[in-house]
Amino acid sequence: MKSEEIRKKFLDFFKEKGHKIIPSSPLIPADSTVLFTIAGMQQFNSVLAGEEDPLKKFGSRTLASCQKCFRTIDIGEVGDDTHHTFFEMLGNWSIGKGYFKEKAIEYALEFFGDILKLEKDRIWVTIFKGEKGISKDEDSIQIWQENGIPKERIKEFGMEDNFWGPVTETGPCGPCSEIYFDRGEDFGCGDKDCGPNCPNCQRFVELWNLVFMEYNKERDGRYVKLPKKNVDTGIGFERLVTILQNKESTYETDLFLPLVQKVEDLSAKVYKEDKKSFRIVVDHIRGAVFLISDGVLPDNLGRGYVLRRILRRSIKYAKVLELKDYWYVPLIKETIKIYEKIYPEVRRKETDIINVVQKEEEKFKKTLDKGLVQFEKLLKTKIKEQKSKIIGGKEVFDLYQSYGFPMELTKELAEEKGFQVDAKGFQRKF
Ligand code: ALA
Repeated sequence: MKSEEIRKKFLDFFKEKGHKIIPSSPLIPADSTVLFTIAGMQQFNSVLAGEEDPLKKFGSRTLASCQKCFRTIDIGEVGDDTHHTFFEMLGNWSIGKGYFKEKAIEYALEFFGDILKLEKDRIWVTIFKGEKGISKDEDSIQIWQENGIPKERIKEFGMEDNFWGPVTETGPCGPCSEIYFDRGEDFGCGDKDCGPNCPNCQRFVELWNLVFMEYNKERDGRYVKLPKKNVDTGIGFERLVTILQNKESTYETDLFLPLVQKVEDLSAKVYKEDKKSFRIVVDHIRGAVFLISDGVLPDNLGRGYVLRRILRRSIKYAKVLELKDYWYVPLIKETIKIYEKIYPEVRRKETDIINVVQKEEEKFKKTLDKGLVQFEKLLKTKIKEQKSKIIGGKEVFDLYQSYGFPMELTKELAEEKGFQVDAKGFQRKF
């Protein structure tokens, strides 16, 4: 099934169930205390907290969306099978007097089973086992069982895995129940306890998080019951597409493959030879397309620094792949082609996006080669004269100041050579 079709099926399903479809909000959230939109619920925060009326604000208590998200905590992980900066989240919400656990679980199973035809006996779930004075979610265990998920496929976890939110220090949050898909023994570690959240393998893929929002986390850390209960759900779209298209990695799905192929056209190397570099280049250019189309510009601080960081990391890896000049132009154009129907702003901002990336590349390309020479020299001096494998804060700072190397890039390059950087020392200088 094509990714476009999956997105449409989700929105059509919930529309038919009486949900109002709300367009994605921008990656820059209205709540400026947060760097980026990281979840579908953010644009609904005030109604979930009971501060505003969902009927007045959104015209319905039951909503669904496909939301653009951007997470920065995973930037360093991009290059493996699953991590991304930009991703999409499919979600449905019931706010206040609507439905709660029973319907949320029924809808989820109906959508996965009847609409997407995922095999039910490969579905496992997790529930909140109770912690910090909040009791175990016995209701969900019962509801999953009533809907045909046997007890042995219902696993219990604590706050760290099965309690979601709030996005900031305070706000709506609650226990959650997650749906996992079993990819089969070939993906497993063989351990007899292997299951969702297995620390040794990726056999079980988390697909859908159903949050039963009953609490508000207060400034003093207490969890206080919300005036009304809500449902907040989220499906990691890229992961779902990977399962439905029966691929090992998200980079092989139709959301990424055209981009990977474009890089192959521009490089003497093929994807299989250096997956990490290919993935970094395509993920980061895709992320940059979305950030720039929502108004972010490269900068030394905040959102702009994140954009600079991913652009410069992709430029470094484009160099590893020896990509031809203006390599980013076909990648930007291809990204726009993949997403313009659902997010028309990417097409509208095409020229801006190309110009911003071009300027940043011209700027960084000038210093990248010299910076790499300087970096190698530094490593040699460290070993020879100082017998140390730690790059000091001032040295990291100098690489940024003189050659435009973001600290995280220096750290990554250093770690590849078995060195560490003094990140705290760098922060003091910055
Ligand atoms: N807000 C929940 C999440 O992002 C659904 O996982």
